[in-house]
Amino acid sequence: MALRNIVKVGDPILTKKSRAVEKFDERLWTLLDDMKETMYAANGVGLAAVQVGVLKRVVVIDVGDGYMELINPEITEKSGIQTEEEGCLSLPGESGVTIRPAVVKVKAQDRNGKWCVYKGEGLKARCFCHETDHLDGVVFTQRLAPKELLNKE
Ligand code: NI
Repeated sequence: MALRNIVKVGDPILTKKSRAVEKFDERLWTLLDDMKETMYAANGVGLAAVQVGVLKRVVVIDVGDGYMELINPEITEKSGIQTEEEGCLSLPGESGVTIRPAVVKVKAQDRNGKWCVYKGEGLKARCFCHETDHLDGVVFTQRLAPKELLNKE
């Protein structure tokens, strides 16, 4: 395994759409292993491949209840809303309150290509949304909650 450099906001790659993974081979597994190590080293709860400069639909997550790998993830259900503070390893030192669904179901392949369905609430739901957004070139600063909404709380 090896640490990879995390791309910072301002680099145009972060605005690009990542491509679907078709080959579940050693090259993918190396990417996953490196992303895992890079995420933990940076004390992150999630990392998308584009953040290490690879435009593939690959995400690693650990919100504190176990490590997960999501390949070609698709959000299939969302319900409720949450407005919580969010940050990103590509925007060090910055955070903002975003508007996200409270509960999310995501369908994704594992490192061998097998499809699985995961459900997330709270931080995990936010993380599923935040990381799949990265695969479409979106960063959390594009999901900030409108001020009027925050003032009502
Ligand atoms: Ni991020």
